[in-house]
Amino acid sequence: MTSILQCPVCREPLLATATGYQCAARHSFDAARQGYVNLVLAQNKHSKEPGDDPDMIQSRRRFLDLGCYNRVSDGINEAIGSMLSGLAHGSDCSVLDAGCGEGFYLARLKEALARGSAAHRRMEYHGVDVSKFAVRQATQRDRSMAWFVASINDLPFLDGSLDIVLSVFSPANILEFARILKQSGSLIFVSPGPRHLNGLREIIYPVTREHGAPAITEKAEALFAPATVSRITYPLELKDNQTIMDLLAMTPYYWNIDRETKGKVAALDRLQLDVDVEIRVFKKKSGDGTVYAC
Ligand SMILES: C[S@@+](CC[C@H](N)C(=O)[O-])C[C@H]1O[C@@H](n2cnc3c(N)ncnc32)[C@H](O)[C@@H]1O
Ligand SMILES: [Zn+2]
Repeated sequence: MTSILQCPVCREPLLATATGYQCAARHSFDAARQGYVNLVLAQNKHSKEPGDDPDMIQSRRRFLDLGCYNRVSDGINEAIGSMLSGLAHGSDCSVLDAGCGEGFYLARLKEALARGSAAHRRMEYHGVDVSKFAVRQATQRDRSMAWFVASINDLPFLDGSLDIVLSVFSPANILEFARILKQSGSLIFVSPGPRHLNGLREIIYPVTREHGAPAITEKAEALFAPATVSRITYPLELKDNQTIMDLLAMTPYYWNIDRETKGKVAALDRLQLDVDVEIRVFKKKSGDGTVYAC
C-alpha cells in the first residue's frame, strides 16, 4: 500500500524512513523506542500530558484482559467482518481505531479478521490516541500495527485514505472522520446503551436515568447515512474490589463523583451490573448525496 499518512505540519504525504517518517518538506518524526510515533505538534498540545493518565491505562488494561468486555469486542469484530465480506474480493483494507486506548479492541479485531473474512485480504491497522501512555501500552499488544500519538481533531491521514474508522467509547470528530474516509468508507461508532453500567450507576446516583442516543446520530446526518445498529447486553458480576475500582477508573464517573461516593464504591467486594453497548455503522455519503454500498 502507498503511504496514507499526512504530515501534521504541511499536510503533504509522510513517508517511512529508517527511523520514523518524513515528508517532502523534511518535517521528520522519529519512532519512539517502543515503536510508536508521536505526531502531536507542541503548539497543539492543550495540556502537558493530554488524554488518559498511566493509572487509568493500567486499570483499563487489567479490566479488559479479564475478558469482561470480550463480548463487546466480538460484536465489533462481527460488524466489521460482515462489512468486509461485502468488499470486492482481495481488495486492500485500511482500518483506524480513533481513540484506541491501550489497544485491546484493535488487537482483537486483527486476530478475529485474520481467522475470518480478512484471511485473504491485505489489511493495514492503525491506532491513534492522544495519550502517549495509552499508545505505549498499545504497542506492547502488537508491534506490527502502526500506532500514533495524535488527536482525533487533527488525524494524521490523507483525505479519503481509509476504509474503516472505529471509535469505541472515545471522543469523536465527525468532520475529521468524514475527511479521512474513502467515499465507500464506514464509521463504526460504539457507545453506552440505555442500561450500561446500571448496578454501578445506582450506587453513584440517587436517580439513574437511561443513557440517550449518542449525539453523533444527529451530528453525522449531513455526511453519513446510518446503516445498522446492534446492541450487546449481558449481566456481569465483578468479584473483587480491584476489578470494581478498575472499572470505575475507566468511566467518567471517576472524575465526577465526590469522595464519599467514591468511598462507597471502594468498600465493595462484589458488584452485579449490566453491560449494554450499542454498535452503530455509518456509511460515508458521496459528494452528490449517493450512499455507496459495500
Ligand atoms: C474511554 S477511553 C476509550 C479507549 C478505548 N477505545 C477503549 O474503549 O478501551 C477514551 C480514550 O480517548 C482518548 N482521547 C481523549 N481525547 C482524545 C483526543 N482528542 N484524541 C485522541 N484520543 C483522545 C483517551 O486518551 C482515552 O484513551
Ligand atoms: Zn511536512
